[in-house]
Amino acid sequence: MSITVQNLVKRYDSHTVVEGVSFEVGNGEFVSLLGPSGCGKTTTLRCIAGLEEANGGTIRIGETVVSATAQDVLVPAHERQVGMVFQSYAIWPHMTVAQNVAFPLSVRKVSSADLKKQVAEALAIVGLDALKDRHPSQLSGGQQQRVALARAIVGRPKALLFDEPLSNLDAKLREGTGAEIRRLQRKLGVATVYVTHDQEEALSMSDRVIVMNGGKIQQVGTPKELYRSPVNRFVADFVGRASFIDVTRAEGGRGWRTPSGEVIEADDTLSNGSGSYQAMLRPEDIDIVEGRATGGSPGRSLSGTICEMHYLGAFTEYVVEAGGARLKVHSKRDLVVGASVTLGFAPENCRLVSLPVAGGK
Ligand SMILES: Nc1ncnc2c1ncn2[C@@H]1O[C@H](COP(=O)(O)OP(=O)(O)OP(=O)(O)O)[C@@H](O)[C@H]1O
Ligand SMILES: [Mg+2]
Repeated sequence: MSITVQNLVKRYDSHTVVEGVSFEVGNGEFVSLLGPSGCGKTTTLRCIAGLEEANGGTIRIGETVVSATAQDVLVPAHERQVGMVFQSYAIWPHMTVAQNVAFPLSVRKVSSADLKKQVAEALAIVGLDALKDRHPSQLSGGQQQRVALARAIVGRPKALLFDEPLSNLDAKLREGTGAEIRRLQRKLGVATVYVTHDQEEALSMSDRVIVMNGGKIQQVGTPKELYRSPVNRFVADFVGRASFIDVTRAEGGRGWRTPSGEVIEADDTLSNGSGSYQAMLRPEDIDIVEGRATGGSPGRSLSGTICEMHYLGAFTEYVVEAGGARLKVHSKRDLVVGASVTLGFAPENCRLVSLPVAGGK
């Protein structure tokens, strides 16, 4: 079953926090809503779940319209048959694991035999069968999260909604649990919306990612599309790490001029051929060598000076002053602060994006 959101609007008093958001999640698809704090991710998710009443737009789960402001349709949350996992697990401390998992079924009219069977199935899927009679206080954080997960999937929901379900777990557990959620979701084949502000989580888990800012969608794409081909500076900056150089069209129309005067080649498919843009470079796409290269490829290199370095184990992050900007470069090479270096890059990895709007990002 799919989830369709069309032109969703949500206001609190006069403040519009979701402004005409539209997207579709296909049957079995895993889609993340990614964006900074306050951009409207949770609000969008709560509107789908029926925990929040929309002020505009339509939401469908499968063929069923669950929310349509113009037609005055609003299906209550418990009739939408969606499973939801919250950041703060929201499990009941006075109930056992099994009672917590059974809770969503108790509000639907499910026979006690069916209820038992479905609870056992959900507990088995998340590997909690042995702990079913414990209370939440007798569980670790990761186990409590599994209870929340079992409660979301019990009774085979039509859609699954996750709101930052990993943010209370430590880094190691987060990785493992993320992979587990994804395996589980694939097995169940349920349309899933996953809210996170963590871009790595979104990239690694999702079929597609929706990047939001200020209540609006900035870009929708596969993780690779977003990372390689961001449509604007906001997405380029928010998804992955990137450095930016202000550029203007070089005289003669070939290449782009940096503030320090060099002309570089870039992927300028987003530009209209003139005007001011920023050239985006990812740290792993820049090659760094010591010394000032002579006779290097014109337009594909910049000379600079290392002004900072941070050893990160797998590589070192160098901050290099070059092209009138400070560029992050990831390299295994051993270099020192103050060294003169040459940075090399392929033009297709140097992508022009539009300048951020004044006052925004
Ligand atoms: N019940 C409410 N009443 C008034 N304003 C609200 C309410 N809930 C959310 N907001 C506002 O709506 C905006 C969007 O909130 P939302 O919780 O959707 O953000 P978010 O993207 O989930 O952020 P975060 O990553 O911090 O969880 C914020 O400015 C928030 O202050
Ligand atoms: Mg939120």
